[in-house]
Parts: sequence; structure tokens; C-alpha cells
Amino acid sequence: MESPRVSRYRIVSRMEKAKDHVELILEAPVLARAVPGQFVHVRTPGTLRRPISFSRLNPVRGEAGLLFQVVGPGTAWLAGREQGDWLDVLGPLGQGFPRPEPDRPWCLVGGGVGIPPLYAALTAWQNDVTASIDAILGARSQDYLIMLEDFGAQIDHPIAVTTDDGSVGAQGTVLGPLAHWHARHPTGQVYACGPMPMLAAVARLMQTSGVAYLALEQRMGCGVGACLACVVMANGPEGPLWRRVCHDGPVFRAEELIWS
Ligand SMILES: Cc1cc2nc3c(=O)[nH]c(=O)nc-3n(C[C@H](O)[C@H](O)[C@H](O)COP(=O)(O)OP(=O)(O)OC[C@H]3O[C@@H](n4cnc5c(N)ncnc54)[C@H](O)[C@@H]3O)c2cc1C
Ligand code: FES
Repeated sequence: MESPRVSRYRIVSRMEKAKDHVELILEAPVLARAVPGQFVHVRTPGTLRRPISFSRLNPVRGEAGLLFQVVGPGTAWLAGREQGDWLDVLGPLGQGFPRPEPDRPWCLVGGGVGIPPLYAALTAWQNDVTASIDAILGARSQDYLIMLEDFGAQIDHPIAVTTDDGSVGAQGTVLGPLAHWHARHPTGQVYACGPMPMLAAVARLMQTSGVAYLALEQRMGCGVGACLACVVMANGPEGPLWRRVCHDGPVFRAEELIWS
């Protein structure tokens, strides 16, 4: 794993992926060797650095992707960058997903802007997994659904889609299709990223059997383990303890975390 460093990287392409969602591809050989689930802290003027996960990692081309939703000043500034502009980036940071076990059915479960790191995981490891691979993607509505075509280009059977309003896929959350998948693959492995209530529900569902790794998207300050802005409560050997999402995560095994 690369140690984190601040570098400037050139944007080699910029794509509108959905309403208010932009993906920037950086020419960044160092970042391209990161582990899916790791993230970068991007400098944006007038704000603290903003954490963004890798949406794509292509070590052969030396490129890394960042796909984000515009929700405030930092991401609005990022969305205004063009091909040829440079970004000031600290990373790669945190602990990514473990390599999936080859013979366990694998399910990637993404909600909203939690989808991009799962695509990076899929493309990095799909050839290692001999068991079945499935994806479940959820969004607020069709306008906000990202990366369905990207997943479809990698997985040769239907991808389960859910939206809150039913404008595409089944109406509801990713939990419905995940419960069906879990019933069919009780010892399977789930990688999930999305809003905290979704991750809490995934953790509850996977309590009975199988294994789940969750990538948390907590608010952050320093991004390198120093300020404690990002802590979550976890189970320790001698009782509950605080874990730093930026340094000990953002990926945790579901049963490590305390959700109350
Ligand atoms: C490890 C990690 C990886 C991330 N990866 C991605 C990614 O790949 N794509 C992406 O679009 N976003 C990602 N995020 C969230 C992203 O960092 C925030 O959306 C961004 O920092 C918002 O900055 P802003 O200045 O645009 O908006 P702000 O003004 O900071 O926030 C706007 C609104 O969004 C809410 N918000 C901001 N950050 C978060 C957060 N982390 N969790 C929940 N609500 C938040 C605020 O409460 C506020 O209501 C990630 C966060 C973390 C911690
Ligand atoms: S953001 Fe500072 S310790 Fe995690």
C-alpha cells in the first residue's frame, strides 16, 4: 500500500454521470495503485479538504477516478474543474476493502454516492472470484442513479436496482434485494457503501450468517487520524472504543461497529 502524500494531479477527463454527479479521471500513477475503498482528501478553496473515494483504479494506464455528487461548496468547486486542470490531493488514505474470498458468492451493495468505491472493487477483483458476483444499486430516483452502465459492462446478468420513488427498478431500498440474495447465499460476502442507516441495516441483516464489509462516509476534518472528527463507536477487546473512520477505516467489518 502506498503511504499518503500530497501531490498535484492533472484531470484527463471529466464526465457528467447523472444529475449533479461528476466523475473526474486523474493522471495519477501513485493513486492508481491504491486499494478499492481507500480515499483521497482533495483541496478545495475556502474549505477543509474534502474526502472522495476512488471510483476507478487503473494501474496499467496510471489513472484514478473520483465520482462525486455536488452537495455544497467543495464539491461544487470540484465539479467546475475541466480537463487539463490540476487537483491538489492528499492520499491514498485509510484502509480499503480486503481482497474478496474467491469461492464465496460476492454481492456489491451501493446506495447513492456509495456506489463508486464498489465499482473500483468489482473491476479490481472480479477475475479472482470464482463464485457468483451480484450487484445491487440504489438511488433516490432515476435521475440520481449512477454507474448502472459501468456495472452492466462488467456483470453479464441483471443488476438489481432500487429507487425510493420507483422511477427505475423496484420501489424501495437495496435491503429488499439484499435479503433475497442473502437467503440464497447465506455464507456469502457483502461489500457495501452508502448512507449510515443503509449500512446499519446491512449489518443487521448479515448478523445471522455470511460476512459484510462496510465503507463509511463520515464527516471528516484532517483525514489522517489526528483530529478525531470522524470517530465511530466500535467493539474492542476490553469493551467499546472509538475508531477513526479516516485512519482505521473507512472500511470496517460489520460486526466491529456499534450502531446505537
Ligand atoms: C471516506 C469518504 C469517502 C467519500 N467518498 C465520496 C464519493 O466517492 N463521492 C461523493 O459524492 N461523496 C463522497 N464522500 C462525501 C463527500 O466527502 C462530501 O459530500 C463532501 O465532503 C461535501 O463537501 P461540500 O463542501 O460540497 O459540502 P458541505 O457543505 O460540506 O456539505 C453539504 C451537505 O452534505 C452533508 N455531508 C457532507 N459530507 C458528508 C458526509 N461525509 N456524510 C454525510 N453527509 C455529508 C452535510 O451535512 C451538508 O448537509 C465521502 C466521504 C468520506 C468520509
Ligand atoms: S478526520 Fe481527523 S481523525 Fe479522522
